[in-house]
Amino acid sequence: MQLDTKLIHGGPLIDPHTGSSSVPIYQASTFHQAQFTESQEFTYTRFGNPTRKALEETIACLEYAKYGYAFSSGMAAISAVLLNFSQGDHLILCKDIYGGAYQLVTEMFPRYGIEYTFVDETDLDSWKKAIKKNTKGLYIETPSNPLLTITDIRGVVKLAKQHNLLTIIDNTFMTPIYQNPIKLGVDIVIHSATKFINGHSDVTAGMVVTNDQEISDTLYKTQKMLGSMLPPYDCWLILRGIKTMKVRMDKEVENAAYIAKELQKHSKVKAVYYPDLEHHKGRKIHYSQASSGGAVLTFDLGNYENVKNFFAHVTIPIVAVSLGGVESILSYPFTMSHAVIPEKGRIELGVTDGLVRLSCGLEDKDDLLNDLHKALDHVKAASALRKKVL
Ligand SMILES: Cc1ncc(COP(=O)(O)O)c(C=O)c1O
Repeated sequence: MQLDTKLIHGGPLIDPHTGSSSVPIYQASTFHQAQFTESQEFTYTRFGNPTRKALEETIACLEYAKYGYAFSSGMAAISAVLLNFSQGDHLILCKDIYGGAYQLVTEMFPRYGIEYTFVDETDLDSWKKAIKKNTKGLYIETPSNPLLTITDIRGVVKLAKQHNLLTIIDNTFMTPIYQNPIKLGVDIVIHSATKFINGHSDVTAGMVVTNDQEISDTLYKTQKMLGSMLPPYDCWLILRGIKTMKVRMDKEVENAAYIAKELQKHSKVKAVYYPDLEHHKGRKIHYSQASSGGAVLTFDLGNYENVKNFFAHVTIPIVAVSLGGVESILSYPFTMSHAVIPEKGRIELGVTDGLVRLSCGLEDKDDLLNDLHKALDHVKAASALRKKVL
């Protein structure tokens, strides 16, 4: 089955009881047990729910996995995976990582006696050098957030197999539409489904998929024990979002590729980070493991003053935390997604006060570009005035 068909027919499409063309929202916390001493498929929504099951089957199918789990947020999904490491274990993670995952690792791991090392994700040698006797897992995020650096997934998987380590990836930016890590040998794939998978900025959700029965059993137990499962109505919204994910994303990617190319030409843009650009360092590796540059790009306006001026003059994108909505979203990683990283560390990572991240929505690409250009022209005029006054 091809991807376009899978998005509609990969998971349950109709309700087997009524033929309804949309899986119903089973908005129930518990289920009547006619034979109360015998087990039945659904007993209590924290343990399982038909709407959630439909979503979990769908995401597993899209990611070429056998098992899928839906959580109440991307962070709940990340926590369900990472908090299953044990005291004395060591984990290696890319240094350019989502701020929430960074905070979880740096603040919670020490309390549980789990060790960690952040490495330069673009350099396979640094992954290799960080491996210790007690290393248990390698955690990837590619393209990374917010600098869009690229990790060689096959290279990391090869290393993991040589040392009998688990591989985990956050596939939020690429989604199953453009990158299928299970096919590349990764053990666990995580998503913030808040982003492109749902796609409409109206739900927070997370997904985890795997092909491994033992990992799947652990994830199920964790979801049940922590009670971090996704509620039925939110599952239904995501099932709805998934059906249009490819058409949405193809257009959003087209917009991002266009905007990234054009922004490079503006004198107030110091740099543009986007894996499809010819000069991007990881471009070749990226296209060996993914099929588009994605819908997110980051650019550098040099300093906070310029960003402030720019944000004050854009009218089409909303300025917000998050990405992956139908509307374009501008965010400021320095005080939003990466605020939890101490300032010195943020700057060392390259998350400086001039960086702006843009998640392209479905607007007309020239409307969007003109709006960004107008705001950039204000930045240019203000800088010229400042120079004159000084
Ligand atoms: C790459 C990535 N992973 C995980 C998360 C966390 O997802 P959530 O906000 O749904 O908990 C985010 C949120 O921005 C993200 O960008």
